[in-house]
Amino acid sequence: MPRVIPCGDEPALQLGDVIAALNNERFEPADEDSFAAAGRLLKGLAANRSFLADIAVAELKDRCGRQAKENLYSSQVIMLHRASEKYFIRANFWPSPQDSVFKASGNSPFFYHVPHDHNFSFLTVGYLGSGYWSEYYEYDYEKVVGLPGEKVDLRFIEKSRLEQGKVMLYRAHKDVHNQLPADEMSVSINIMEASPRLPFLSQYRFDPAKCEIAGILTRSSSEALLALAANHEGGNARDLVEDFAARHPCDRLRFAALRELASARGSVDESLSVLAKGAASPNALVAGLARQEAARLQANRSWIERT
Ligand SMILES: [Fe+2]
Repeated sequence: MPRVIPCGDEPALQLGDVIAALNNERFEPADEDSFAAAGRLLKGLAANRSFLADIAVAELKDRCGRQAKENLYSSQVIMLHRASEKYFIRANFWPSPQDSVFKASGNSPFFYHVPHDHNFSFLTVGYLGSGYWSEYYEYDYEKVVGLPGEKVDLRFIEKSRLEQGKVMLYRAHKDVHNQLPADEMSVSINIMEASPRLPFLSQYRFDPAKCEIAGILTRSSSEALLALAANHEGGNARDLVEDFAARHPCDRLRFAALRELASARGSVDESLSVLAKGAASPNALVAGLARQEAARLQANRSWIERT
């Protein structure tokens, strides 16, 4: 489970103090111990009981202009600081089933009941309320290929919640949680690892009952653009997609390019012949995903050929 960072009663810090300390060159979120050492800063920020409300009011006065520019998340999140390639700071709201926003929206906007790992590390502190619950697991990232349906040695650790003042470090590609609704409206604050490499690292959804990878959650904008490029009128962009399929350093992207090349072909048999090249790849993820895509096409052949 995430590493619980023992912190005493830290003096209250301003957000600017935390940012100044994190901007120190020695802070390296990709290094577990360096990231864990920043736990005291987050605990100090959580001891400041007014800064978040002040920011929320300031945002409302500004018609949430900064959120519109910097916040890629839903309204569950307030982006507090994003100025570095190394990290950003956000606040998250975790409603309980009794809260009107939960009744209106259901589980999905809050990622409840979606067991998953993370392709980044992050520090979190419970800021308000009794905190969201999680069933925690661990697994060995190095031992999985990353295929949907693949068996994983998922080890249950415990069920606990992020209580006010508790600081935890979620470790990338190691800690898995099935996040469950809080018993009352709760707020957490995160320091998130940021890096241009993250879109190329896979985040998984798991099925703990079957001990399987249920799916790959990571989607990069490149994958959507590959679909457009492969189908570009006249094929003018197809050489780029072919280059991605042959040489992109990320195996998930290589498969995405191959899938779009297959999809752009005129018949199921032509698509299958493109996927057959992928299935022969020495890379286990590309080969496995190509086989799964070929099986999906075969299973849906009659429907595809009718339309
Ligand atoms: Fe999560």
